[in-house]
Amino acid sequence: MRTRIYVPRETAAISVGADDVAITIARYAKENDAEIELIRNGSWGATWLEPLVEVVVDDKRIAYGNVEAADVAGLFEAGLLTGGEHSKRVGPVDEIPYLVNQDRWTFWRCGLINPLSVDDFRAHQGFNGISKAFEMGSQAVIDTIKTSGLRGRGGAGFPAGIKWQTVADTQGEQKYIACNADEGDSGTFSDRIMMESDPLGLVEGMMIAGFAVGADKGYIYLRSEYPLTYSILNRAIVAAREAGWLGKDIQGSGFDFDIDLHLGAGSYVCGEETAMLESLEGKPGVIRYKPPLPAIEGLFGKPTVVNNVVTLSSVANIVNLGGEKYASYGVNRSTGTLAFQLAGNIKRGGLVEKAFGLTLLELIEDWGGGTASGRPIKAVQVGGPLGAYIPADQLDTPLDYEAFLGIGAMIGHGGIVVFDDTADMAQQARFAMEFCAIESCGKCTPCRIGSVRGVEVIDRMIADDNRDKNYELLVELCDTMEDASLCAMGGMTPYPVRSVLKYFAEDFAASKGSS
Ligand SMILES: Cc1cc2nc3c(=O)[nH]c(=O)nc-3n(C[C@H](O)[C@H](O)[C@H](O)COP(=O)(O)O)c2cc1C
Ligand code: SF4
Repeated sequence: MRTRIYVPRETAAISVGADDVAITIARYAKENDAEIELIRNGSWGATWLEPLVEVVVDDKRIAYGNVEAADVAGLFEAGLLTGGEHSKRVGPVDEIPYLVNQDRWTFWRCGLINPLSVDDFRAHQGFNGISKAFEMGSQAVIDTIKTSGLRGRGGAGFPAGIKWQTVADTQGEQKYIACNADEGDSGTFSDRIMMESDPLGLVEGMMIAGFAVGADKGYIYLRSEYPLTYSILNRAIVAAREAGWLGKDIQGSGFDFDIDLHLGAGSYVCGEETAMLESLEGKPGVIRYKPPLPAIEGLFGKPTVVNNVVTLSSVANIVNLGGEKYASYGVNRSTGTLAFQLAGNIKRGGLVEKAFGLTLLELIEDWGGGTASGRPIKAVQVGGPLGAYIPADQLDTPLDYEAFLGIGAMIGHGGIVVFDDTADMAQQARFAMEFCAIESCGKCTPCRIGSVRGVEVIDRMIADDNRDKNYELLVELCDTMEDASLCAMGGMTPYPVRSVLKYFAEDFAASKGSS
């Protein structure tokens, strides 16, 4: 009987040596006649414990954290194959508080299964959602998504059910599902963990969306900075096709659906849905005017559902367990769960899927363990580079879309980047404007020119050149960008800048100068 050992094949784990660990385990086992089966799973999302090696003992998965290749011989000698004691032993994976205290609705298979095995996916409820959708019929699926209250997890938080209904109701022989996997926000990695750890979960979500709205073709627009994700997704799509879960007449249902995987070209603004559609069509990634909405005239002018990876990956369980069940998680109009991503100056970085409603501080302290430096928190940026910097005294704000809007912030894609009291917030304000200047698609003046002028004004403030006058100028510039930009890139860049002006204005005098 061979002992099963899991070593993640996931970008973060590999960046800290998971491949070396896997190779060393395989070599050691061979040289020492140890009977093992090495499985490359995805990640549970406890990034701070990577590489997290698990060994199956009496059907229990015993975890060893932060394993290095140099630990392997010692681990075997300490009785790895029977879950032996070792300084790297964390214990049963289903008893790690970081994991068990989560509300895993969307990410529950991540880390658990072999991402490339259709059989393993099927053994863990895979394709049950689409099978149930076939029984329910399209409109009932859309109604279930509406009941769930699921909102887009890409950033804007638009209700998925309403978007699907619009596409379903729009006449058109050809319709598309376009999955936004551009994941450009700073401090975000939930799409990637999903696609590397449970790619068929996304495939199934896209199938359900296609069935619900009458689309037979899906596209995944994947950021080019994710080469491993590309390879895993590609192999998973091929495996699903070979097993008859993609292609014509899926499982005899009469429903046709297939997926094309498309690599982006490294532009932040290509994550905006209309620029993404342009890029998918082979054109430069420039924003389109809206209306028409993509739901009416999207990819190649056809009605298109554009949804984020996490949005789509959440729907199979909603169909399986019911919209009411999903809606019973969360608070107010923020129903269900979100995969928060802890990054920056944080002790225990990683992915935490929780129902909406806990406070930012609970997330940072209870899961993140506070700052990695051990110093006090100065600011937290939530929602990517266009998100406001939230000061320490507002960390008791509940994670709820509307509560965040109430403090001039946003939850966005759930990326949480922590800064300690050594952070130079004037430089962070400058960075926001500079980022916009670099990433602007150039279509409208407030963003294209305004962001360049914004950097200059902030530089003058830091250099104490007419600081008060330039302060007023910066506020006016923020007003113009916010009111007159064509999309949220220029329209929301003022959020982080304004938050620095409001809460950290003293940093302009203290700043060490432009980088
Ligand atoms: C500048 C900019 C960048 C964006 N980047 C992303 C992205 O990387 N991934 C994403 O899913 N949505 C991104 N969005 C949001 C999309 O425009 C769109 O709202 C989303 O893909 C819709 O899917 P959802 O409703 O499931 O969130 C971005 C928006 C803007 C303005
Ligand atoms: S706001 Fe910026 S990114 Fe958006 S359309 Fe205008 S120039 Fe392009």
